[in-house]
Amino acid sequence: MAAYEYRAGLEGVPATQSSISFVDGKSGILEYRGIAIDQLASQSTFLETAYLLIWGALPSRQELAAFEGEIQRHRRLKYRIRDMMKCFPESGHPMDALQACAAALGLFYSKRAIDDPAYMQEAVVRLLAKVPTMVAAFQLMRNGNDPVQPRDDLGYAANFLYMLNEKEPDPFSAHIFDVCLTLHAEHTINASTFSAMVTASTLTDPYAVIASAVGTLAGPLHGGAAEEVVGMLERIGSVENVRPFVDRCIEQKQKIMGFGHRVYKVKDPRATILQNLAEQLFDRSGQDEYYAIAVELEKVVGEKMSYKGIYPNVDFYSGLVYRKLGIPTDLYTPVFAISRTAGWLAHWKEQLGENRIFRPTQIYTGLHEVPYTAMDDR
Ligand code: CMC
Repeated sequence: MAAYEYRAGLEGVPATQSSISFVDGKSGILEYRGIAIDQLASQSTFLETAYLLIWGALPSRQELAAFEGEIQRHRRLKYRIRDMMKCFPESGHPMDALQACAAALGLFYSKRAIDDPAYMQEAVVRLLAKVPTMVAAFQLMRNGNDPVQPRDDLGYAANFLYMLNEKEPDPFSAHIFDVCLTLHAEHTINASTFSAMVTASTLTDPYAVIASAVGTLAGPLHGGAAEEVVGMLERIGSVENVRPFVDRCIEQKQKIMGFGHRVYKVKDPRATILQNLAEQLFDRSGQDEYYAIAVELEKVVGEKMSYKGIYPNVDFYSGLVYRKLGIPTDLYTPVFAISRTAGWLAHWKEQLGENRIFRPTQIYTGLHEVPYTAMDDR
């Protein structure tokens, strides 16, 4: 009999002790450092929330101003990183471009003094500052345009939308995008965060940690669902088609994108906030053709699948918000990465605080004492 119980996907197996975030999936509670997500979404900003996640407490006015100022000063990319990006194929996925760029930062800032608080602070600032610039630069360069330089007079969210669309966003859109970043910044030990922690535990540099997490987030079972939701709403096409679509999915045992969650068995609190943001955006700048379909889909899935705990997750409404903000569909996951960089960095720092390299065991299922077969006898 095996000495250990094996659980596929490590479901329910604690991988660490953490004080960064908390989820109660039965009551629909998400807290960052003990503060409820709806309070942060309505009262904080993304950079303030990032500070809270990474340094453990809300910053004072002076601390926040200093943090924002440092990030603003490090937004630009070295021209050699831009030159490297020129060689990327236009058809490549933006997540692959981001992973390569994050890793490349390690070539330029490779000092592995991870026990030096000043180095840690610098790495946090550089990554938070440069990840949005890299995402926006790839978007422009793959369309044959030069990247737009960051603008020092714009806040974090507004500057990203400006670099992406080459147009300064209105303050309301910038605010909505900032809230989206806050909502996606952290979510306990999911696949990409675990990946960041494993990489961090080897004491490698933080650029490798973030590159590793970006690669993990890119998979369709993790970060890619928002992209899929928009495609699904497009295929459904009309409110009348929703019920037959759901019936077909149930009959054919197909997953409905943007629904269900390993932890939440009620509506994801972030989905509720995002739905509200989407409604505010549509009130200001016109309805989205897919919103009525999305609301009907939530209603019908609720009728037919709530007994299984299947409700909208964070990805259900986020795509509709991003669409309205002019963000291309294949940038939804890189936008998720911009935001989650805050959570990954928080876990990097926490991991180093009490580090032990990850080295799990396995249950061997192979053979023993197999004689070597000579080439001619195979
Ligand atoms: N549509 C229809 N049925 C579903 C769905 C769904 N979206 N999600 C779960 N179920 C059913 C599933 O068929 C199963 O039914 P049964 O017990 O009768 O076989 C039951 O609910 C349990 O599902 P599961 O797949 O075993 O649950 P899980 O915890 O392994 O999966 C999940 C969680 C998020 C991978 C899954 O719900 C899913 O694939 N959802 C669609 C994709 C999606 O929206 N992903 C975004 C997740 S949130 C953001 C992130 O993590 O990055």
